[in-house]
Amino acid sequence: MSEDLFKRLVSHCKEYGFIYPSSEVYEGLNGVYDYGPMGVELKNNIKDYWWKAMVQMHDNIVGLDSAIFMHPKIWKASGHVDAFNDPLVDNKDSKKRFRADVLIETEIDKMIAKADKEVEKAAKRFGDTFDEKMFRETNPRVLEYTQKALDTEKRLAAALKTGDMADLKTMIDELEIAEPDTGSRNWTEVRQFNLMFSTQMSNIGGDDGKLYLRPETAQGIFVNFLNVQKTTRQKIPFGIAQIGKAFRNEIVARQFIFRMREFEQMEMQYFVRPGTEMEWYNYWKEKRMAWHRAVTPAEKLRFKDHDNLAHYANAAVDVQFEFPFGFKELEGIHSRTDFDLGSHSELSGKKMQYFDPELNEHYTPYVVETSVGCDRMFLTVLSNALVDETVPDAKGEDSTRTVLRLAPALAPVKCAVLPLLRNNEELVGKAREIYDQLKFLFLCQYDEKDAVGRRYRRQDAIGTPYCVTVDHETLENGTVTIRERDSMQQERVAISEVARIVSERVDMRKIL
Ligand code: GAP
Repeated sequence: MSEDLFKRLVSHCKEYGFIYPSSEVYEGLNGVYDYGPMGVELKNNIKDYWWKAMVQMHDNIVGLDSAIFMHPKIWKASGHVDAFNDPLVDNKDSKKRFRADVLIETEIDKMIAKADKEVEKAAKRFGDTFDEKMFRETNPRVLEYTQKALDTEKRLAAALKTGDMADLKTMIDELEIAEPDTGSRNWTEVRQFNLMFSTQMSNIGGDDGKLYLRPETAQGIFVNFLNVQKTTRQKIPFGIAQIGKAFRNEIVARQFIFRMREFEQMEMQYFVRPGTEMEWYNYWKEKRMAWHRAVTPAEKLRFKDHDNLAHYANAAVDVQFEFPFGFKELEGIHSRTDFDLGSHSELSGKKMQYFDPELNEHYTPYVVETSVGCDRMFLTVLSNALVDETVPDAKGEDSTRTVLRLAPALAPVKCAVLPLLRNNEELVGKAREIYDQLKFLFLCQYDEKDAVGRRYRRQDAIGTPYCVTVDHETLENGTVTIRERDSMQQERVAISEVARIVSERVDMRKIL
């Protein structure tokens, strides 16, 4: 998908009620979005897909819905007060603020693009005889660009790991990075910026009453570990799953709902015996990739190991998706060791341990975490689905259509019921009758306005997988047509069969 199509996606989201900019009447609030009538349905279906895959399909994973506000000490213990920072740099001329690491990463992408361009040119020149591997290994220019990209990547990872802000500034200067809009190279020093939003309790002053809006849902799970283990009597290994809002004061919120300041996470912490964490880490890597592959083509997904581990992790990998702006993180899978439970034990004075009856010993469990952004999943699903296509054998305005090829189980509306004509009482009455039956099973729309072709196009644009049309034959023999969105094929079935047929086809089991 190109940048142009990405713009199409953003405008499609607005036009069809998937996503609106927040506070639009006041010119919007940067990095914050509202989900409209179609958006909330799609998002709920994504959450349902995750919850079913994680909680319903595993008898050793249970759910939780912890509060957003938590005791401020939680964020001290978790390391977020001291270490949840991004390196920030200001441009003195434009007064705009940037993430230093993102500026450098963009420069690395440019180096790689230059190497790719050389390869592309050579491929054109040599035609069928072109050996790309050999060219990449021997061409001096390609080698130079590739090596520079690798060296810069390594140096960036080292500077981020050690918190060497001075070296990030030196890199910006050495690479002659310019402000993207103005071209200015007049940068401030690079400094750390904490990403947590805070607010104040009404009845407690000072730091004791300083509350943070959670930057991850995970901590609500850790501090409830003892409660959940006791009340569910789960034996290790077991997991706790949670879906909820998280907040980050991102320096640059951009790329639509990819990087937001208020977003939603779907996280699961899996508590395991110390020493078995790598085995479970690999298990969850595969499991989570399979979940993604059920709704996203495999070639658009890949793993990317972290170069720079978070303060709590001893291994971490991202599931990346090929967004319109390149491969980027969709989900993180982290081996979090006993860092969180250990820190909370220490700061709270309450031992967060587990008695293992098989080993006859107490220990602090290790944790493997899976964490996927609900909004990024939404963007992934839509990026895969949005297609502008020509319709074979059609004329005029019917010759093209915009269709959302969503997995039926994720589609906001499962079925539309359409009387062929709106001014025929019998057709309208029958269609209403069918709609009133189907609406108990899944979200349906009844639509009688405009020619039926137009109504099909409207349903295609919101991804409705099935349209049931009531026509004159319905009145004669009790049958209707079911039109399938992607193939546009119609089949004639008895009214009594519609509920069963559509229910089967939109069932979540198709993707679980
Ligand atoms: N508990 C671990 C954790 O929070 P993370 O990699 O920082 O790890 C997990 O975040 C996921 O949350 C990411 O893979 C991404 O999908 C989503 N996410 C993180 N920051 C986001 C943001 N600013 N906007 C939208 N989604 C975000």
